Amino acid sequence: MLLKDRIALVTGAARGQGASHARHLAREGARVVLTDILDDLGKTVAEEIRETGADATYLRLDVRETADWEKTVADVVKQYGRIDVLVNNAGVCELSDVESTTDEEWKYVVDTNAMGVFKGCRAVVPVMKRGGGGAIVNTASVQAVKGTWGYVAYQASKSAVLGVTRSVALTYANDGIRANAVAPSAVNTDMLAKEMEHFRQNEWFDFDKWLEEQPISRIAEPEDVSRMVVFLASDLSSYSTGGVFPVDGGLLA
Ligand SMILES: NC(=O)c1ccc[n+]([C@@H]2O[C@H](COP(=O)([O-])OP(=O)(O)OC[C@H]3O[C@@H](n4cnc5c(N)ncnc54)[C@H](O)[C@@H]3O)[C@@H](O)[C@H]2O)c1
Repeated sequence: MLLKDRIALVTGAARGQGASHARHLAREGARVVLTDILDDLGKTVAEEIRETGADATYLRLDVRETADWEKTVADVVKQYGRIDVLVNNAGVCELSDVESTTDEEWKYVVDTNAMGVFKGCRAVVPVMKRGGGGAIVNTASVQAVKGTWGYVAYQASKSAVLGVTRSVALTYANDGIRANAVAPSAVNTDMLAKEMEHFRQNEWFDFDKWLEEQPISRIAEPEDVSRMVVFLASDLSSYSTGGVFPVDGGLLA
């Protein structure tokens, strides 16, 4: 029970890694607020968590929308009085190189992945300050640290996540607020399935060969990342802030 009675807000929690993070945080005793734009899926995951005896609620939150953040944070504070943990997990991915990326693709990816994380921190930090502190876990990617082909907007957005994370960490270090980023490699979710379909159709990247060459030659399961999120959300990581924590099977090594 590393997070007993802590109030945790997770974005993009309707499926994939976000749903897994919500389950793991709840298992450690947190009261979890799941948010997403996929309402039916999100409500189902919250219901499943409640069936385990934990406290879980679903609220609609488009991370790009300031008004959604303001309403969600106000609702959570009204219900629970505080927010102890924020997991900025929501994200989208487009495989597109410099020449073929449209303004719309860039805006969609960067607004969701980078601006969404910024808006989340902006909305929640004042609540954490009033409550005496908190832990923020932002979702970057190994692509924020290491280059690869054909993901220009995605890589730019995930690099920006590291910038926001460091800025929050340094600004609020003495307010008891810690901010860290997780950097996963390939994780077994719908997002990766869409990427693999793209690789197959375009034949420009041999995913199986790439996987064979990885130090740990398997893709990550969402749970691999969730355990790192629990660590960063809990007091186990009490002296870590502004850091980038790979969950990458050794890729960055
Ligand atoms: N899957 C991977 O290989 C991988 C690797 C590194 C990092 N990531 C990152 O992990 C995070 C989770 O992705 P996933 O793998 O679970 O993918 P996913 O597509 O299964 O889940 C993403 C979730 O984010 C939600 N979302 C998208 N736009 C949103 C918005 N505007 N507002 C609120 N919610 C929104 C989706 O509805 C979905 O539930 C993302 O930030 C992604 O970039 C994924």
